[in-house]
Amino acid sequence: MTVCSGAGISAESGVPTFRDVETGLWAKVDPYEISSAEGWREHPERVWAWYLWRHHMMRAVAPNNAHRAVAAWEDYADVHVVTQNVDNLHERAGSSRVYHVHGSLFDFRCDECQSAYAGEIPAMPEPAESVTPPQCECGGLIRPDVVWFGEALPDDAWQQSVDAVVGADLVVAVGTSSVVYPAAGLPELAVANGTPVIEVNPEPTPLSTSATVTLRESAATVLPGLLQRLPALLS
Ligand code: APR
Repeated sequence: MTVCSGAGISAESGVPTFRDVETGLWAKVDPYEISSAEGWREHPERVWAWYLWRHHMMRAVAPNNAHRAVAAWEDYADVHVVTQNVDNLHERAGSSRVYHVHGSLFDFRCDECQSAYAGEIPAMPEPAESVTPPQCECGGLIRPDVVWFGEALPDDAWQQSVDAVVGADLVVAVGTSSVVYPAAGLPELAVANGTPVIEVNPEPTPLSTSATVTLRESAATVLPGLLQRLPALLS
């Protein structure tokens, strides 16, 4: 089985979803502007400050019952996780096959030579509007290894995700608004292949009308008992 997760699976860990209204310092930040290649070129110090703050915030939160349920399913099935999330909560809950189609806040690379950065990530006890990014030995700026609007998705993660959806006997789409492509096209691919698709989301999405089953509840409520319900849900 393949789980396609979005920001909603981390909401009950206290991580605001991408389209939640940010509070505090970032309320006035346009996520589309600050998470774009153009935003990085124009204001690298602002973009770095925002991701550094999210990196540190993510370290302070914990996986919730939804992440733990997905990890526990590995005792019963061959589970692949395709996530749009840049947090590491699936891995920290114990999932062993996680494909980050939008990258990760816990990986960093040089914007010039693209080499992975393993150097010190500065602490950030309080959010700040502007922090100078570290520099690579080649002189390039260090950036988070996340996919910004307008950038290509990582080839390996994408191919693993397509293979996981094509090879799945069941797809569970959880906590995603299903509006950002190409990731939103993966559950649709499963539908087109005749693979059962279960959507878990308190709100309707463009996937809702084509999913086999839509469960209008939160991830942490539904996922722990989902396996036991499959025979009834899919009969
Ligand atoms: N359980 C399940 N779903 C939830 C929960 C919850 N507790 N809370 C919120 N949701 C749902 C919302 O109803 C919404 O449909 O999670 C979804 C979150 O949608 P987005 O914020 O759009 O997040 P996501 O779908 O992951 O965004 C996709 O867009 O902004 C880019 O790169 C960013 O990866 C992100 C991508």
